[in-house]
Amino acid sequence: MKHSVDSLPQVIAVLPAAGIGSRMQADCPKQYLTIGHQTILEYAIHALLRHPRITQAIVAISPEDHHFQSLPIAQDPRVTVTVGGNQRAHSVMAGLKLAGNAEWVLVHDAARPCLHADDLERLLAITDHSVVGGILAAPVRDTMKRSEACQSAISHTVERQDLWHALTPQLFPLALLKCCLQRALDEGATVTDEASALEHCGYHPLLVAGRSDNIKVTRPEDLKLAAFYLTQLNH
Ligand code: CTP
Ligand code: MG
Repeated sequence: MKHSVDSLPQVIAVLPAAGIGSRMQADCPKQYLTIGHQTILEYAIHALLRHPRITQAIVAISPEDHHFQSLPIAQDPRVTVTVGGNQRAHSVMAGLKLAGNAEWVLVHDAARPCLHADDLERLLAITDHSVVGGILAAPVRDTMKRSEACQSAISHTVERQDLWHALTPQLFPLALLKCCLQRALDEGATVTDEASALEHCGYHPLLVAGRSDNIKVTRPEDLKLAAFYLTQLNH
């Protein structure tokens, strides 16, 4: 059944943007590198705010950040800024605390500029039938090897059939994500994405198949790739 946008629960976006981008080896944190006329962070925010169900974007930045306030997007009334933490999960938590009593929250890496509108639409559609939430993910395509512990020799091949790359955005009921993230942090679990906090608490978020060009800019060579993918998105 098709719903009008007004009848669907609103979604608040949280963008962790407090990382330093050590693997990128750039002069500034990678989310502030520009592609054309915009920073990577601005592409990431715009891709979300373009959707009518996403009414607010909360950006968690480093306490030492002196880039964000100079961006035009800092003046957008839909954008709120907060101070992030030492780990991604702490930055996300800081954002969640400003999300009020929104029903759903969508977390998206500030370093992921190439989100396609169709992927976002399919992820948002899960609020219709899921009470746990889900993530965009891409099926693994290469043959997967596990190495001997800390060595560069192959131990064995890992079955690829059920393996996925976890991407963002990741979409969850706000109260559930807050509760699971807090518990996972309190219990010292490894939380590299939001879904892992829910997994820690026994939930099984949905995998929504997404495009593999929704890359997280991580290493220097990713910048040209992101620039190319952006030309394909008609931003
Ligand atoms: N992030 C954050 N707070 C942190 C660490 C990371 O908000 N303490 C954010 C990053 O800014 C990025 C996203 O989480 O948008 C994904 O993290 P990652 O790609 O690992 O970015 P960095 O930590 O900045 O990069 P690196 O690991 O290479 O240092
Ligand atoms: Mg990191």
